[in-house]
Amino acid sequence: MNFEAPKYQDHHEVKSKLIDPFAREINYLRLSVTDRCDFRCLYCMSENMQFLPKKDLLTLEELDYMCSTFIKLGVKKLRVTGGEPLVRRDIMKFFGRISRHLETGLLEELTLTTNGSQLRRFSSDLYKIGVRRINVSLDTLNEEKFSKITRWGRLSQVLDGIQAAQDAGLQVKINTVALKNFNETELFSITDWCASKNLDLTFIEVMPMGELGEEDRKSQYWSLRDLRKKLEENYSLHNLEESTGGPARYVRVEETKQKIGFITPLTHNFCESCNRVRVTCTGELFMCLGQENNANLRDTIRKYPNRPEELENDIKAAIDNKPKGHDFDYSRASIKGQMSRHMSHTGG
Ligand code: 5AD
Ligand code: SF4
Repeated sequence: MNFEAPKYQDHHEVKSKLIDPFAREINYLRLSVTDRCDFRCLYCMSENMQFLPKKDLLTLEELDYMCSTFIKLGVKKLRVTGGEPLVRRDIMKFFGRISRHLETGLLEELTLTTNGSQLRRFSSDLYKIGVRRINVSLDTLNEEKFSKITRWGRLSQVLDGIQAAQDAGLQVKINTVALKNFNETELFSITDWCASKNLDLTFIEVMPMGELGEEDRKSQYWSLRDLRKKLEENYSLHNLEESTGGPARYVRVEETKQKIGFITPLTHNFCESCNRVRVTCTGELFMCLGQENNANLRDTIRKYPNRPEELENDIKAAIDNKPKGHDFDYSRASIKGQMSRHMSHTGG
């Protein structure tokens, strides 16, 4: 197949914006580039995951074609996720190509979410092509617990990767999934470690995905309201008004001056300001993380590799159907809104 990347160099070409039925402007795309990962986190994957056959994945050229089309339609921020994005073969080629949209200014931010295992190898290239901020997932600073929760990961490798990223000039934010009976006791040590290393920190409520049984889920669920209360035993927290259009709310810690985020998909409804959509590595466009309905962009990409207007129409039609919100809810007797998709499929 012969791909010509669409050339959208001129700002004036951009006439249409993606506005959904609830008047939300969609300018943020989260793109999963692989469902594979070198870890097997308990809350994300099973030990022997069946991964997708290669032919189902969008090629790097197809990913570029699709992202360029989204960027033409008004996407200004692109976050690359997985799985683990840095285990996809030749992924730096993809980053390198996408960076042309940073040069034109159409794309304002290119970023990624990673488990950190490959950062020693890739950080300086990421910085060179224009990445400035990355998110690294890290749930514990204890080596044994790290091996337990990630099954296959090594803490020292991730810590070394984070150091490499900082040395390369990347601003690093740590994402920590709040897990009762797991990292509850590390709340202060993780917070202080981040403060001392100048790392931003966000806590995430565990979402009903992956392979945990219902009992495990309930016993692991640590509400961020409780986490925050505990944090306030030692620190003074001031709410920050800023929002990135996502589920995170931020506070400033008076004592350490650090910024801490809370992502609470389950106790808070953040849908009204949602500015984002997600695309899986197979080209399914999900309008909402908590809903099953999606549009298959891969068929259109493969059928019309040189007619971006076809893809544009599909994307616009899908956004016209973006739902108002999701149905996750832990408070019911059984967990409602539980998703059959893995996080590694839709991207975190
Ligand atoms: N609930 C909450 N966060 C999750 N992640 C993966 N699975 C889940 C889940 N079930 C997180 C990872 C990473 C981000 C991409 O998503 O830990 O921080
Ligand atoms: Fe890999 Fe991230 Fe899933 Fe862990 S949570 S298995 S690091 S994709």
